[in-house]
Amino acid sequence: MVATTAAQMKRVSCLILLSCLCHLTAGVTVQVSPQEEAVAHLGSTVTLSCEVQNSDSEEELQWSRNSGLVDLQEGNRLSQSHLCVQNLTRDDHQVKFTCQLKRNVSVSSSVKMSVLYPPILSGEENVTMEETRESEISCPVQANPQVTVSWLRNGVAVDLLKEGYTLYQDSSVAKLIITKPDREQHQGTFTCIAESSVFGNMTKLIHVKVVDKTMAFPLGPLIAGCVVILCTVLLAVLSKWSQIAKVFYSLFIDPQINLRLYSLVV
Ligand SMILES: *[C@@H]1O[C@H](CO)[C@@H](O)[C@H](O)[C@H]1NC(C)=O
Ligand SMILES: *[C@@H]1O[C@H](CO)[C@@H](O)[C@H](O)[C@H]1NC(C)=O
Ligand SMILES: *[C@@H]1O[C@H](CO)[C@@H](O)[C@H](O)[C@H]1NC(C)=O
Ligand SMILES: *[C@@H]1O[C@H](CO)[C@@H](O)[C@H](O)[C@H]1NC(C)=O
Repeated sequence: MVATTAAQMKRVSCLILLSCLCHLTAGVTVQVSPQEEAVAHLGSTVTLSCEVQNSDSEEELQWSRNSGLVDLQEGNRLSQSHLCVQNLTRDDHQVKFTCQLKRNVSVSSSVKMSVLYPPILSGEENVTMEETRESEISCPVQANPQVTVSWLRNGVAVDLLKEGYTLYQDSSVAKLIITKPDREQHQGTFTCIAESSVFGNMTKLIHVKVVDKTMAFPLGPLIAGCVVILCTVLLAVLSKWSQIAKVFYSLFIDPQINLRLYSLVV
């Protein structure tokens, strides 16, 4: 009799515990704001908020930045929490901030940061290219939102069809490839214009100089080789000069010496 009661008691307390656990998780959600995406300018500060919903009891919250936990102050964890992201940089672009229940991280809500930044595009550059050797000029255009790029030569839009150009652009660089550089057609000042719906137009100037094609034949080394051979011959001649002169002299100019030499030898 006593034993039965004890067993029943155990079952009942077990049931109560289970229903408590169910109650704890069932229906509880967290919600961040802004939802899904937070858009802000480079250098600005953004506040993200998070709130527990459908819960009678206090819940402890935590934030993560991508996969790393963020340190939160004491009074900023229960039921609701605010995260201040200061001085936004390019590195914060596309970073995911997640707010979650500390006791069950699968109860969570996330927001992705979208940092608005212009391309780093300014100043001038000098580029030298050889006639007929394929070359390119380029502009860094990494930006959010993405920019539209156009090219001018001496202030006039380049004619992509007529003048031997190929365009290349991805999210970080724009290139104008000149398939066969020609002084008349391609020397001059090019402008790349990055047009942004947020930041307006930004430009970079590129001064292109087209020079004669250097010979494919290695003329330089060849000349150096010839000089070395000539010098060696000259040195050899110089060092033997007195002997050569003597023989020459004796053979053709002074038969007497020739005779004397002859007699000496004999
Ligand atoms: C903001 O970030 C930039 C670049 O990282 C830095 O030069 C500047 O000092 C920062 N400003 C503040 C107030 O933290
Ligand atoms: C955590 O929450 C999820 C979603 O509400 C739930 O399916 C899961 O059972 C919970 N895990 C624990 C250990 O409570
Ligand atoms: C480009 O060349 C010009 C003239 O040759 C020179 O004055 C200028 O400093 C150069 N600019 C750069 C960025 O090299
Ligand atoms: C920006 O550049 C585009 C393309 O070259 C041009 O059509 C537009 O007029 C420019 N806008 C400004 C404000 O200069």
